[in-house]
Amino acid sequence: MKTEYDFFIIERDHLKGKNIFPFQLYIFNPIHKKYSMFLNGNRPLTKELESFLDFLLDKGGKIAILKKQRRTFLTEQSFHESEIPSLKARELHELEKERIMNLKLKEMYDEKNGVFAFQSEFEKACDTDNFEKIIEYARVEIITFSVTQSHTISLAIHLTKTHLTSDNFLNRIVATSYLFAKTANILDPVALADIICGAFLSHIGFSQLPLTMLKTPLLSLGDKERKLFEKHTILSNHLIKTGQLDISERCKKIIIDHHERISGSGYPGMKYGDSIETFSLIVGIVAHLFEFSSGKINGSKQPIKSVIISMKNKTFSPGLEFDFGDKIYNSLVTLINTDKVKEKIAA
Ligand SMILES: [Fe+2]
Repeated sequence: MKTEYDFFIIERDHLKGKNIFPFQLYIFNPIHKKYSMFLNGNRPLTKELESFLDFLLDKGGKIAILKKQRRTFLTEQSFHESEIPSLKARELHELEKERIMNLKLKEMYDEKNGVFAFQSEFEKACDTDNFEKIIEYARVEIITFSVTQSHTISLAIHLTKTHLTSDNFLNRIVATSYLFAKTANILDPVALADIICGAFLSHIGFSQLPLTMLKTPLLSLGDKERKLFEKHTILSNHLIKTGQLDISERCKKIIIDHHERISGSGYPGMKYGDSIETFSLIVGIVAHLFEFSSGKINGSKQPIKSVIISMKNKTFSPGLEFDFGDKIYNSLVTLINTDKVKEKIAA
């Protein structure tokens, strides 16, 4: 059966008043979306047929020609294909053109920098307290995602282009969550975009809380303030809802659930075990790592590597959490070579 891909559409004027053609004429019926033979090649377009053709065109029908007869049509009717709108190549959207350019830039980036090994780059970033390379690599990669797949991907690309441009606290969480998810074999751009947007938006609810509270280490907050602080997940989701931000349901779950913990000790839903999605745990563990290391939880800054060692050894420290599930937890604590670090500390 012939489909729309087998035809191109012409206007009545393109027949140039002739009444015999070396190509076939078809009629496209827009109601039934079907193409029917109207006039065979080298058969006369009689007055009766011409009136019938006009009647069909008047009712919304379109004259169609088989693409395999394109050359015959253009030669016989003396047209260049640029004069037939349906033969013109589809103009690429500006964002698609930009993506093609970004794919080329990524190729050049890889050629110049070689294979990007997240684990060793993460170690270097921790050692130097400089995450520029991690953030830059994440940006170069994310902006090559296709813009036509989902709203969340488009938003992930937009947020990456506008915000993932320098080494700061939020960008460390976004880039590390993204690259960490890839080490857990999450490679689908739709899924990765959920993680990127989830990491970007999980804390927009902070904008609704008093600044003095946000500057106080979590463990120093009173019970009432702490309860208010814990509302940031719901506040983030509320802002997304009222702002009518079109993101996937899974991305919303990441935002609401990034403080849920496997043991049921998290918030806001005290979810337990498998009821917490892996993606929420990924953003949760990465955010917790950076929050703890920066002193936002207990008030004292600590190198990221030593936080990971404490997590690996399950060394209890007030505010340090371990409850992210074995898979995610083990992936994080093996991100750095902890034996080497211990040797360094011992020396
Ligand atoms: Fe949070």
